[in-house]
Amino acid sequence: MNPSVKLKFAERYGSEPLIIHAPGRINLIGEHTDYNDGFVMPAAIHMGVQFAFAPSQAAETSIYSLKYDEAFRVDLSKPGKVAQPGWANYFLGILHQLNERGLKTGNFNCVFDGDLPTGAGLSSSAAMECGFVFGLNELFKLGLTRLEMIHMAQWAEHHYAGVKCGIMDQFSSMMGKENHAFMLDCRSLEYEYLPLSLGDYTLLLCDTNVKHALSSSEYNTRRNECQQGVAVIAQKYPEVKSLRDLTAAMLPEFKDELPGVIYNRCRFVVEENNRVVEAGKDLKRGDLVAFGKKMFAAHEGLSKLYEVSCEELDFLVELAKESNGILGARMIGGGFGGCTLNLIRGSVVPSLVKSAGLAYYNRFGVEMTHYAVSPGKGTSGVAGYRSNSLNDYIDWVGVKSIYRITMQGRIYTTYIMKKALHLQSFLSGWPDSN
Ligand code: GLA
Repeated sequence: MNPSVKLKFAERYGSEPLIIHAPGRINLIGEHTDYNDGFVMPAAIHMGVQFAFAPSQAAETSIYSLKYDEAFRVDLSKPGKVAQPGWANYFLGILHQLNERGLKTGNFNCVFDGDLPTGAGLSSSAAMECGFVFGLNELFKLGLTRLEMIHMAQWAEHHYAGVKCGIMDQFSSMMGKENHAFMLDCRSLEYEYLPLSLGDYTLLLCDTNVKHALSSSEYNTRRNECQQGVAVIAQKYPEVKSLRDLTAAMLPEFKDELPGVIYNRCRFVVEENNRVVEAGKDLKRGDLVAFGKKMFAAHEGLSKLYEVSCEELDFLVELAKESNGILGARMIGGGFGGCTLNLIRGSVVPSLVKSAGLAYYNRFGVEMTHYAVSPGKGTSGVAGYRSNSLNDYIDWVGVKSIYRITMQGRIYTTYIMKKALHLQSFLSGWPDSN
C-alpha cells in the first residue's frame, strides 16, 4: 500500500482523508471478447491506484496527481473534456455522469498515485475511473451500486478517453477477489469466482516497455471490424446479434462471403470464446498443462488472426515456448505492446527473467521489466474505512464476527486454564494464585 497519498494529502490540505485502493487487472484468457458479448477470465491484482479524498470547505475542487506533481481545479458544474492534463479526463467523465444522474457532491480535495505501470495493459485507466467514482460514492453517500459504478467507469473511458472498450477492465477493478480469478459472461454480466490454486506455478508479467501509438485507434478499428462481420452474418442468421452468437459450425459458410481480414477477426473471436469456456474447466480440474496450452493458442490467434500483437510481444512469447518450466504465455490487454502473462514454475523465475531480459535487450535495445502478480481484491477502502454499501457492510460484519468469536475463544481458554490451575492446586494442596 502506498502511504504517500495520505501524507501528501495531509501536507496539501491538512485534513484526515478517506483512502481508497483501486486495482489493475490481469486477464488469464479471453482477449477482445468482452465487446463481442463473450467470455473473459480476468483477476484484479495488488498493484493499482490509491486515492485520498476529503470534502473541502473551499469554493473549489482540487485533484492532485502525485506522480506528475500536478494539480487540476475542477468546476463541478462544467466537467467538460480538457486537452491537458490527459489524466483529468477519466475523472471529468465520472463527474459528468454524476451531473447527468442528478447526483450532487460538494467540493472536495483528492490526491492520487499508483504503482501500476501505464501502457502495460494492466488497466491503469479503469483503476483511475473505478477508484474515483467509488471514493465519491463513499464520501458523499451517493448510493451507487458497484454495477452502476462499473458502467459509469466504462462510459468515461468511451466518451472522455475515446476508447470504445468492453466491460472487462472496469468489472475486474470493482469485483476482484483475493486469490481468485473470475469467469465473466460479458452479455449477461453473470460471473463465477474461480479459486487460483497454482501449486508450484506462479503468474509472471514480462513488460516489453513499448506501447505502439496506434493502440487506441486500432482497438476501435477491431471493434468496427467485428460489427461488420456481424452485419453480414446476421443477414443469413438473424439470431446472431454479436460474435458471441456465431458458432464454429456456422463460420465456414462465410469464408467466401466475408473479406479475409473480417473473416479472421470473426474466427478468432469464436475460437477465443470457446477457449475461455474450456480453460475454465481446466482450472476447475487443476489441469494447468491444458490451461497453459490454451494461453499459447490464444496468443497465436491474437497475433495472426486478430493482429493486435507486435514483434516485442511475439518475441517474448516465443522465448517462453522454448523455456523449461513455462506452461503458457500470451499478451494481455488491448495489445500493440505492454505485457505478456506467463504461467511459470516459481523456481525458474529468476533464471527466466535473467535470460529473457538479456535476449530481449539484445534484440530490441529496450529493458524488459517483470512483476510477479497474484489476484487481489476489488476497489475498496483502506485502513479504518467504513463502507456505506451493503456488500461491504456484510464483509465488515463477517470480519467483526470472526474477531468476536476469537476473543470469546480467548476468554474461554483463560477461564478453563484458571479452573485447571485451581483444580491442580486443590488436588496438590497448594494455594492457587486467587
Ligand atoms: C482493453 C479494453 C478491454 C478489452 C481488452 C482486450 O483492455 O479496455 O475492454 O477489450 O482491451 O481484451
